Amino acid sequence: MNYNEFYQESLGNKEAFWKKQSNELPWFTPPNTILSEDANGYPLWFADGETNACYLALDQHIEAGYGDQVAIIYDSPVTQTLKKYSFNEVKSEVSRLAGGLLALGLKKGDTAVIYMPMIPQAAFAMLACARIGVTHSVVFGGFAPHELAIRIDDCKPRVVITASSGIEIDRLIAYKPLVDEAIELADHKPKKVVVLNRKLGARIPFKKYDVDYDALVYGSEEAACVPVNATHPLYVLYTSGTTGKPKGIVRDTGGYATALKFSMKYIYGAQPGEVFWAASDVGWVVGHSYIVYGPLINRNTTVLFEGKPIRTPDASTFWRVISEHNVSVMFTAPTAIRAIKKEDPNGEFIKQYDLSCLRTQFLAGERCDVATLEWYNEHIPVPAIDHWWQTESGWPMISNMMGVEQLPIKPGSASKAVAGYDIRIFSENGEELGPNEEGYVVIKLPLPPGTLLDIWNDNPRFKAGYLTKFPGYYFSGDGGFKDDEGYLFITGRVDDVINVAGHRLSTAEMEEIVAAHHSVAECAVIGINDDLKGQIPLALVVTKSGEEIEHFQLQHEIVQKVREQIGAVASLKDVIVVQRLPKTRSGKILRKLLRSIVDGADYQIPSTIDDEAIIPEIEEVLSHCKIGSFK
Ligand code: COA
Ligand code: AMP
Repeated sequence: MNYNEFYQESLGNKEAFWKKQSNELPWFTPPNTILSEDANGYPLWFADGETNACYLALDQHIEAGYGDQVAIIYDSPVTQTLKKYSFNEVKSEVSRLAGGLLALGLKKGDTAVIYMPMIPQAAFAMLACARIGVTHSVVFGGFAPHELAIRIDDCKPRVVITASSGIEIDRLIAYKPLVDEAIELADHKPKKVVVLNRKLGARIPFKKYDVDYDALVYGSEEAACVPVNATHPLYVLYTSGTTGKPKGIVRDTGGYATALKFSMKYIYGAQPGEVFWAASDVGWVVGHSYIVYGPLINRNTTVLFEGKPIRTPDASTFWRVISEHNVSVMFTAPTAIRAIKKEDPNGEFIKQYDLSCLRTQFLAGERCDVATLEWYNEHIPVPAIDHWWQTESGWPMISNMMGVEQLPIKPGSASKAVAGYDIRIFSENGEELGPNEEGYVVIKLPLPPGTLLDIWNDNPRFKAGYLTKFPGYYFSGDGGFKDDEGYLFITGRVDDVINVAGHRLSTAEMEEIVAAHHSVAECAVIGINDDLKGQIPLALVVTKSGEEIEHFQLQHEIVQKVREQIGAVASLKDVIVVQRLPKTRSGKILRKLLRSIVDGADYQIPSTIDDEAIIPEIEEVLSHCKIGSFK
């Protein structure tokens, strides 16, 4: 197949193209209306179709005779556990958990929050919700109670499903006390908290709202799949935006299932029956799309890995998992490869494993630097495919479509637009820019199926954030350019969102916490380059006049506050005290300028700067600081 023809077909007759793709799924009621609009004029896919994501992930394969195929491989170096679940076994557990949730009073249209580590029960909980039409919202386990509380208040779950503990490299993290604290902080009070006791020794304080996960599953009848409309919200997934409040990205059911099935075949080139591994977390969009729903809908065996690329136990872990489980296609973040490279620069561990099963390595979540790509290529003889997407899109927007035609790889580019995405580069004024001109990355509406439907409870924010800046186009929040062959290069965010070790975080949110410190008069949190994590946050603070606080004390208190309120995953370790911050004459802090100074990049002083004399001052302070040293 030819990429160009396929791509043109996808844009030329969108309805026919996506109708054909939707036929790859067994619908309860196949859609007659392929593309329509919601009350706000926003495009909807397959509006009158009826389906169920859990049916598509499990039951359809059992009905087709694949019940004994392994659906999930749970590989947990941190607990030294390896367990395989067939589609039959997953369905049995999921349908009884769904029955248990019904018995707790949940019904179609309700919401449930899932706060769990990387264990099979996290996937079971997602699928059980989907089975009965309950919209789930998975919250990443690395987020602190305050963050969990914000999400509970926004999506108002009837239940929270959790586990007794997660495990980080060197410590057990008791989840139940964190959930209790979040419920205490939240205004909305969930009726029940379902707790899986992992029996790893974590403290599980008892509350009246607690329900034991095992007792619920084993004491319940199997629940059948509830047909839902294609536009029914399968999940809400919160992601960082440009304010302190995360955005609840709403995903539909039928369009998403169609897009995932499509992407497994045409982007990832994964055949049903093969083993697919996305080394991410169910708390992120990668986990939703390519640990749980995508591979299962495509009848792939999915690997659910509870560990890190290094120190669990060492930098050989990824290669062991690939070779032991016969992984055909793998997906990870470049930061994971950088971590491995740092520990094993000559790839000695790689040589110890037979990786002949691996066909393609996909990389995403952040920009893939050329050095990482080259190191990978030097040591592993399979294509390493950088691809670009976001929580909002739910599936890749720029990628080499490996199931269509492999295009030559250009390091630094995630290749060309995926079928269905009409990607353009715009100037600030909304004019389309020519080849090699850097601007805003935008996508002509309608976006293809599976992309965001709305922001939960906040349609005005959805419109303001994505649709208003360039009418008729979706604004991605990323900058980039297209070369003269149509290859797209993403150069980074154009807003205050940063990417730390593949985790998307908001500097505005961190700024709110730093600014709340009693000694801080004003501050700026910026993302600066980091060899391992891609970016890390750095706080620059101006202390209140007359405040007598030692730098190390201030830094310690701020770092602790950010860990307490957002979570350790924020990775804010460095706080620098400056006399003043560079601003425009209208009082806006010049964050981009600060970033360039700290990163040692070339910069131009904006003509709008209030006082140019501040630049040498800032440079002087920074020249005395060793960022990254305050661990
Ligand atoms: N629960 C609790 N704490 C968590 C957590 C979780 N689920 N995930 C991370 N944290 C904590 C870590 O323990 C660490 O705490 P510390 O500051 O006390 O050491 C902190 O958050 C930062 O974690 P992380 O960013 O993961 O850094 P790390 O140094 O532990 O590991 C990498 C570095 C590169 C190995 C790791 O970030 C990694 O594997 N990244 C890949 C990310 C990925 O797959 N992202 C998904 C997008 S595709
Ligand atoms: P998230 O929503 O957490 O998946 O983060 C999405 C953001 O990560 C995007 O808007 C980009 O800024 C960045 N990103 C993801 N993948 C890539 C990539 N392949 N290249 C460059 N940036 C990427």
